[in-house]
Amino acid sequence: CGEQPLQGRKIIVTAGGTIEPLDPVRYLGNHSTGKMGYAIAAEAAKLGAEVLLVSGPSNLADPAGVKTVRIQTALEMQAAVQAAYAKADAVIMSAAVADYRPKTVAKDKIKKSDDELVLHLERNPDILYGLGQQKDKQILVGFAAETCNVEEYAKKKLSKKNLDFIVANDVSAKDAGFAVDNNRVQIYFRNGECEKYPLMSKQELAGIILNKIVEMM
Ligand code: PMT
Repeated sequence: CGEQPLQGRKIIVTAGGTIEPLDPVRYLGNHSTGKMGYAIAAEAAKLGAEVLLVSGPSNLADPAGVKTVRIQTALEMQAAVQAAYAKADAVIMSAAVADYRPKTVAKDKIKKSDDELVLHLERNPDILYGLGQQKDKQILVGFAAETCNVEEYAKKKLSKKNLDFIVANDVSAKDAGFAVDNNRVQIYFRNGECEKYPLMSKQELAGIILNKIVEMM
């Protein structure tokens, strides 16, 4: 029970990292566990939203009351998000999407030799940038995972991707960001405002992000 301010609203949340195969046994990936995105999806469902969670590989269980679609690659994540975008009221992209994928995926396991191995990578689409280009009524929320110049890079992403706000985290921190239960963020809004938050649980942060969306609706 409790207040359900997102009743009747459709929200897409992405979580986890995409993995990009190299051969049948290896892939390129990152440290995202899905904890941030799963907390947002669970909280949005509690607030009454119809939630689609598009998740990269994660050990976490599907959140209650959430439609969870599991994908592996950035291209698969893009297809799943795009299919639901037209009817969505908001999209929150907390996934760590791989910017590059191997140009070719070997059919069989790559054998080692004494030589160097050179990998050729090609760009993945920027899913959020594409959503920003097609933005209609949707509220678009991005994350910025940075290790330096957090404010500068986050603001660039906010404007380039046509977002309503961006949640920036310093992923070089040990106690926040990837793979832990807490996060410490700054939120940058399109009107130039900024809010800085202390370390808090990802669940609590999910509530703050969703309250911003409720206010904007
Ligand atoms: O999963 P956890 O272990 O809980 O970790 C949480 C987290 C650190 C992954 C999360 O808090 C976070 O920072 N997510 C964003 C990770 C990221 O890829 O950030 P970025 O600065 O590279 O990308 C900016 C935005 O564009 C993000 O919203 C991202 O989802 C999106 N993007 C990026 C690349 C791409 N090809 N397509 C995208 O849509």
